[in-house]
Amino acid sequence: MYNSKIIGLGKYVPDNVVTNDDLSKMMDTNDAWIQERTGIKERRWVKPGSEDTTSVMGLKAAKVAIERAGIDKNEIDFIVFATLSPDYYFPGPGVFIQKELDIKTVGALDVRNQCSGFVYALSVADNFIKTGMYKTVLVIGSELHSHGLDKTDRGRGVSVIFGDGAGAAVLTREENNSKGILSTHLHSQGEYAEELVVKAPGMGTRWVTDIIAENNPDDESFFPYMNGQFVFKNAVVRFSEVINEGLEKNKLKVDDIDMLIPHQANLRIAQFIQKKFRLSDNQVFNNIQKYGNTTAASIPIALTEAWEEGKIKEGDTVVLAAFGSGFTWGSVIIKW
Ligand code: UT7
Repeated sequence: MYNSKIIGLGKYVPDNVVTNDDLSKMMDTNDAWIQERTGIKERRWVKPGSEDTTSVMGLKAAKVAIERAGIDKNEIDFIVFATLSPDYYFPGPGVFIQKELDIKTVGALDVRNQCSGFVYALSVADNFIKTGMYKTVLVIGSELHSHGLDKTDRGRGVSVIFGDGAGAAVLTREENNSKGILSTHLHSQGEYAEELVVKAPGMGTRWVTDIIAENNPDDESFFPYMNGQFVFKNAVVRFSEVINEGLEKNKLKVDDIDMLIPHQANLRIAQFIQKKFRLSDNQVFNNIQKYGNTTAASIPIALTEAWEEGKIKEGDTVVLAAFGSGFTWGSVIIKW
């Protein structure tokens, strides 16, 4: 058995900055409410008509990660792409990356695990590398929320939170079993699937043709719905559990954490976890203030920025943790 290690990180966010004040011109909201409840100051939203799609943003982040990894793109043996906002209903964006990178016909897998998508995708990549099946895997998390949000008063509880962007990581084989990704931990609880959901279009519910035929202006089923307080309460519990699970598995203590990168769902959630684990400001990385919640892209964007800012160094113990729709949650323990 091998380990896997991250050898290249990249991110891409669209240029278009949308501030809280910008949102208050579209819907009944305000900067004070958004900052107090979420910590978000601004987010990036792809301008309608821009070339940026989920796949295109993922590709841009991937190119940076590949260059920083210092590998030839043809060394990539497999692609894992996490998103809840694919360009097409099918196929998923993984195959687009294979085409646009113009690499040999390697496999491409799409992960649909929302906010936990990148953690799930890393786990898949790690396990393919561990078994020796693949040596070098490209993992991408990318999200284009803004085109699918309800930007009226009705959707304000959800729309102010989400942002667009992408992050990517190149993983390769590590022969030293005490380095790289030490373990991954994945969970789900489907009984709460409808607490954070986009219900339509869905083959089992209402397809696009039904929505058009009904032409009901009150139909909200194709916008994200979130039972915010319920999600919040579950998030803080599951974040804690799954971080502890990872620490225990590796016989680590909280003090051993050099950097915790929580999924950027809400600054209050991250601060709650920081306080609970008694971590210093230097031990937790947040950038939700600038980007909002970019679901599957949030951890790779944050991980990339933390690394770019020199906050992650060789030998550090880095913990990634995510919780979101499904419910799904997970953690990754890395010895950098
Ligand atoms: O990433 C996946 C996981 N997601 C999460 O973990 C998110 C978890 N949940 C949350 O982060 C929070 O629940 C929210 C940020 C979504 C909402 O914060 P909250 O403190 O739970 O607010 P609330 O939904 O209870 O709403 C409080 C009040 C309501 O008004 P009333 O009923 O008290 O009069 C809302 O109508 O705030 C109102 N409100 C807003 N006001 C201004 C809701 N959205 C807005 C808004 N601007 N955008």
